[in-house]
Amino acid sequence: MKYTVRANSNIALVKYWGKKDSKLKTPLNNSISLTLDSLHTTTSIEISDRDQVFFSDHELTNNEKEKIISLVDIVRNDFSIDKKVLINTKNNFPTASGLASSASGFAALAYAIDKVFELNLTDIEISKYSRLGSGSACRSIYGGFSEWLKGEKTDGSDSYAVQIREQNHWDISMLVVIVDDNKKDKGSTEGMDLTVKTCPFYPAWLETIDYDLNEVRKGIINKDLEKTGLIMEHNCLKMHATMMTTIPSVIYWKPSTLEIIQKVKELREMNINCYFTIDAGSNIKILCENYHVNQIKNYLKDSKGIKNIIWCKAGSAPFVMSKS
Ligand code: PMV
Repeated sequence: MKYTVRANSNIALVKYWGKKDSKLKTPLNNSISLTLDSLHTTTSIEISDRDQVFFSDHELTNNEKEKIISLVDIVRNDFSIDKKVLINTKNNFPTASGLASSASGFAALAYAIDKVFELNLTDIEISKYSRLGSGSACRSIYGGFSEWLKGEKTDGSDSYAVQIREQNHWDISMLVVIVDDNKKDKGSTEGMDLTVKTCPFYPAWLETIDYDLNEVRKGIINKDLEKTGLIMEHNCLKMHATMMTTIPSVIYWKPSTLEIIQKVKELREMNINCYFTIDAGSNIKILCENYHVNQIKNYLKDSKGIKNIIWCKAGSAPFVMSKS
């Protein structure tokens, strides 16, 4: 049986930054995200006579293939399965440029593996497997708003995501403003490991995270854009402040990133409630009311650095698109 599945990307409102265990990909702090409807990975998987992985119709070899097959191997080992797989995966948005392509990619993969091996895993189990591919992927197993619980156990068995509120809970928009669609120079794993090791402010990140998590959780439950947005922005700036003060420094921003930050602040002065967040890359995401989307897009349209703006709303959990 060949399964084609789709998983959506997610953007953290309260970020994950710092690993407790790099092999298990367990985090040093909880994080909260919104699953997006317009950025997704589509993955087909079927049993084959050898392991093969295609990304956008090009066969992967060496490290890139290894990263994907190692997750299949973990599941094969856990369930004593000796079947090989043929995987074909593609994203409908730029890869590895701070738009959480690894989140949708590994969520789709873990979900697809469950289907092709007919395992009937629970959401929590699929969330844990996708975490082993890329930490933030564990949040893409749910629609709407999710929280990744860091867990306490040394084997990572209690580190997975849970849903805070479903997709239809809050009809809100996130504009993904692309200023650079090239692959970033430094991956998030390298960036966060350097931060944990060398940033003098990293302890402050951990000391203040519970406040951010509590407020954003409340903000989501009460559909309070101002509370959610202000804390989301501050949390993002704290994360980037820790990156910038590692040795050597990690600076993901481009001049256009700062230009858009400034524009978001100007829009707020014009009583257009909108807030920014930025991941390990230079692209900006703007959280706003649906009825402000056109005004915001108009206000940004003269900024030279913008390559594209993608309008997203809350997205769904992964699903099977077809089986044949
Ligand atoms: O899951 P990773 O290794 O791609 O790390 C994601 C890190 C951030 O996007 C910066 C924050 C987050 O919580 O998604």
